[in-house]
Amino acid sequence: MAIRTALTELLGINYPILLAPMGGVAGGKLAAAVTAAGGLGIIGGGYGDQRAGYGGEAWMENEFRAAGNARIGVGYITWSLAKFPELLDQALARKPAAFVLSFGEEMLFAKKIKASGAKLICQIQDVVGAKRAAAAGADIIVAQGSEAGGHGKTARSTFALVPAVVDAVSPIPVVAAGGVADGRGLAAALMLGAAGVMIGTRFWATDEALGSANAKSLLVSAKGDDTLRTRVFDIIRELDWPEEYSGRAIANDFSRQWHGRDAALESAVARERDRYWAAAKSGDTSVAVVFAGEGLDLIGDVRPAGDIVREIADEAERRLKAYR
Ligand SMILES: Cc1cc2nc3c(=O)[nH]c(=O)nc-3n(C[C@H](O)[C@H](O)[C@H](O)COP(=O)(O)O)c2cc1C
Repeated sequence: MAIRTALTELLGINYPILLAPMGGVAGGKLAAAVTAAGGLGIIGGGYGDQRAGYGGEAWMENEFRAAGNARIGVGYITWSLAKFPELLDQALARKPAAFVLSFGEEMLFAKKIKASGAKLICQIQDVVGAKRAAAAGADIIVAQGSEAGGHGKTARSTFALVPAVVDAVSPIPVVAAGGVADGRGLAAALMLGAAGVMIGTRFWATDEALGSANAKSLLVSAKGDDTLRTRVFDIIRELDWPEEYSGRAIANDFSRQWHGRDAALESAVARERDRYWAAAKSGDTSVAVVFAGEGLDLIGDVRPAGDIVREIADEAERRLKAYR
């Protein structure tokens, strides 16, 4: 079976399902599993340095190795590539099928990525950003709503953002991200005019994802109501995100102590830093961040990623057929 859309045609895949380039979570093994099942796996290089606990050239080399010969993509947080331009060259030398730039400044790298033969995928959070990405030459635009796990803008939700972006950038294929965790989400995204979905949180709760077992079991027990958008985990990790961005994560003791008190935390970083990193290292999720989206309610287990791809595609097909 297959679901054909402009996205599957452009990328040469069976199902319109992309693995989100989750930094430190979407490694080579997970990317290869998603590709093998008919979607496109994308390795998440994140910030490109070691500060967040993963990333950098050696890390990426290792993840390419873990992916073996699978046809995969690579993604980075765009402003990190301005700091570490060698990471772009490293990734493009591996001839990825696609390259994802998230969170602005696509213009800086678009030409080089497209010249390599990789499809340029830009992840944006508003219509202004979508038009900017289209002007930069994006082959595919991911419209990310604020339901999404990880970083993004607080302003717009997937349901209204996706059709607005589709109208703004047609005929460029648009992919919906944020809150999609089962076949209902994929079917709905297609009905909104999207050509596919990019899924993060659901793929984190898989056997192949990187990250601690503690974090994965929290993904199964926590619910969408338990998440919040916050800047506290960026402040403590000393990551310089522009003001308009926050990250959706599962609330924990650390966020309960500091959320809404950004200035106080900024002055306490020197005192709190060691405690935070010790928790991150030991997998203590009461302090260390577990980024996750509102789709948590739809996650009941940790399973092989390939099963999830097939189930989402089958369920979407069934639901779409019911309306024919
Ligand atoms: C644990 C985690 C880490 C993430 N890291 C990144 C990242 O490094 N770069 C990026 O572009 N997006 C990142 N994202 C956001 C995803 O690209 C995507 O927008 C999001 O996962 C989609 O929403 P969902 O989680 O509801 O499926 C991350 C998401 C999660 C859950």
